[in-house]
Amino acid sequence: MRILFIGDIVGKIGREAITTYLPKLKQTYRPTVTIVNGENAAHGKGLTEKIYKQLLREGVDFVTMGNHTYGQRQIYDFIEEANRMVRPANFPDEAPGVGMRFIQINDIKLAIINLQGRAFMQDIDDPFKKADALIKEAQAVTDYIFVDFHAETTSEKNAMGWYLDGRVSAVVGTHTHIQTADERILPQGTGYITDVGMTGYYDGILGINRDEVITRFITSLPQRHVLPDDGRSVLSGVVIDIDKNGRTKHIERVLINDDHPFN
Ligand SMILES: [Fe+2]
Ligand SMILES: [Fe+2]
Repeated sequence: MRILFIGDIVGKIGREAITTYLPKLKQTYRPTVTIVNGENAAHGKGLTEKIYKQLLREGVDFVTMGNHTYGQRQIYDFIEEANRMVRPANFPDEAPGVGMRFIQINDIKLAIINLQGRAFMQDIDDPFKKADALIKEAQAVTDYIFVDFHAETTSEKNAMGWYLDGRVSAVVGTHTHIQTADERILPQGTGYITDVGMTGYYDGILGINRDEVITRFITSLPQRHVLPDDGRSVLSGVVIDIDKNGRTKHIERVLINDDHPFN
């Protein structure tokens, strides 16, 4: 099984990068399943039903989320029915949506788990203990388990990778919007990368217009986050090949921008 995972889609430029590149990526890599992180797809914060459906129409099979899950109020209206989406599983039980779902691809069942870190982030439930519980549940059903760990620090993501090594097929990090070059297969067969990076405005800061962000750093005054409507884009992701036992046998980064053109 081959998974194509694309990191945090940020706003219109990110969505347009999916429209432009996803067909070409699918042609080149022929993934069995395509998963994207959609927590920033609607104006940088959250996801609307329209955008969720548009992503699925364009060839995305599944959407993971993160700390911006509830950034758009209308998520409350459709998240319970959105069976191609997970939000971080270690949000409190009261939070709408679910943190693990299974999808069937041909004769294979894939469990997709979304977790969120706590270092320099909201103090939610323990993602490690939550992972233990969900993996137990998933292993009763399938050997194919994919984890999107949405977290700020490299150390917490590293810790999750090692903690889950041999128990899941892959642990990919999201949230920092900067791709790390540390993709590897851990000794017990779990594919790992600290962060896949984001998909959006290439000449901004984490996909956001840079002027306001720089001003905030200089003045320490609050600034509006501005998302440009057009500009150069970057698409960041990872391709993971998983063997019959649910172990990663190959992992490679995908990065498309004007400095790394896609041929
Ligand atoms: Fe994000
Ligand atoms: Fe995030």
